Amino acid sequence: MEQGMEKCRVLVTGGLGSIGHILCARLIREGYEVVIVDDLSVGRKEFLENLPGVKLYECDVADNRGLEKVFGESDVGAVVHLAAKHYIPYCEEHPKETVRVNVVGTLNVLEAMRQHAVPRLVFASTSSVYKPGERPYQEDDSLEPVNVYGATKLVCEEAVKRFSPQYGVAYTILRFMNVYGPDDLVHHVIPEMVKQARSSDVIKVGNTESKRDFIKSEDIADAIVRCLENDVARNNVYNVGTGKALSVKEVFDALCKAANRKLVLEVDETRKRKVDPPVLHADISKIMRELGWQPGKEFSLEDSQKQDFGLHENLICRIRHGSSRRHSAVQQEIS
Ligand SMILES: NC(=O)c1ccc[n+]([C@@H]2O[C@H](COP(=O)([O-])OP(=O)(O)OC[C@H]3O[C@@H](n4cnc5c(N)ncnc54)[C@H](O)[C@@H]3O)[C@@H](O)[C@H]2O)c1
Repeated sequence: MEQGMEKCRVLVTGGLGSIGHILCARLIREGYEVVIVDDLSVGRKEFLENLPGVKLYECDVADNRGLEKVFGESDVGAVVHLAAKHYIPYCEEHPKETVRVNVVGTLNVLEAMRQHAVPRLVFASTSSVYKPGERPYQEDDSLEPVNVYGATKLVCEEAVKRFSPQYGVAYTILRFMNVYGPDDLVHHVIPEMVKQARSSDVIKVGNTESKRDFIKSEDIADAIVRCLENDVARNNVYNVGTGKALSVKEVFDALCKAANRKLVLEVDETRKRKVDPPVLHADISKIMRELGWQPGKEFSLEDSQKQDFGLHENLICRIRHGSSRRHSAVQQEIS
């Protein structure tokens, strides 16, 4: 455990997002006080119901005055900076907004940490900073993003590395692979397939052969907590994934099995991304060796029935029952 880190107040930007709410719940269980900054552009306020004692500041990280107020009032000992635009098609279409939130937002967070002498930062980066290649990425591999999102995260990484030492901030950069979990808010491939399965037997996707490294949000939360609590993570960079790549087709097969339905996978040309690296997966030996972290069980949507995947029972029910009356009722209940 890092000196002075025990039970400190942690500010989580993007704390009401897909990863954020899982992380905040974990931090609370570990005895940390939690403050969230979220503009609710994607995040859900109802997650607060399961986050006792958490204070929410509804604030845009690109608004430095708003952040100044938050830091002025909060007396935090560490920041986990998750807030970002990251859905790749959105970022490609809105490069200026992506730069504003990701780059300006991160610079603002760093500046506020300097002003308020906050000593510790964990920054959420991505596999998208790497130059696409076939073998698992290692942390010191070439960084050459092929999309706007990856480019903004690389700029942020550089800013974090350069400014943190000058500002008295110890940083950890975590490069997450493809994250999945309960209540995914962004239409990545798994939540998108699940969403389609609720109302149809035909699942439309872009590329079926692209392979990705799918890691659970609980495992991401565990990696973040380990970073906060281990000196070795200071001023360091780690991949967070499973080390294994699964194709979209394999994920689809797992979904059919989990839902016990015969679904049809259909390629929809309009969903194909212009640039889609064939394989993205991580070499995770560094984080396993240095932080004792390891990913949870194998990827399996079937486990969802045992509440392992995090597709809640009612969601599985919706998938199973397709367009039945029961499905409609459940859907109404949820929407
Ligand atoms: N989900 C993945 O597969 C994945 C993979 C690699 C890296 N990451 C990174 O992890 C982080 C969290 O991802 P996530 O999946 O939880 O995303 P998410 O979109 O579900 O959550 C992001 C949260 O940030 C908030 N937010 C967005 N713009 C904001 C702004 N300007 N000011 C304040 N809050 C703002 C949103 O409302 C949302 O609650 C991001 O930095 C993302 O780039 C995610």
